[in-house]
Amino acid sequence: MKRILVIHGPNLNLLGKREVDIYGKVTIDEINRDLKKMAKAKRAALTIIQSDHEGEIVGAIGKAKGRYDAILINPAAYTHTSVAIRDAISAAGIPVVEVHLSNIYAREDFRRTSLIAPVAKGQVSGFGKASYLLGLEAAITLIKK
Ligand code: DQA
Repeated sequence: MKRILVIHGPNLNLLGKREVDIYGKVTIDEINRDLKKMAKAKRAALTIIQSDHEGEIVGAIGKAKGRYDAILINPAAYTHTSVAIRDAISAAGIPVVEVHLSNIYAREDFRRTSLIAPVAKGQVSGFGKASYLLGLEAAITLIKK
């Protein structure tokens, strides 16, 4: 069975209450429930974490090799700032899929740059909860090849 680590970055625990005009009413629990449902159907095992702390995310990525076959990550605000998370992904040696609920290219200028995208296998941005599900499908497709 393939193993995938799902990482939700800072403030994503607030989904459903936070800027609902941008992120919608979906909660992190609903996203996780649907991810688990899809993983079960595709016979993949998920471990899901949420962290507001850059160092914790770097640590989780650093320990992923050998434990997981791929990482699905919404780095949230760290997308635009974190050289540390980018370097951790570069060093990880397993495929990483980047996802965003909102279309980061249709928002403020500072969100249009992802430091993560160049070291990710690919990115899904702009489809709300479906970004995660499409990202999971992409990750499973990649590692089953
Ligand atoms: C986000 C987009 C980021 O710019 C923002 O900081 C987030 C969420 C998204 O999923 O659309 O926290 O990653």
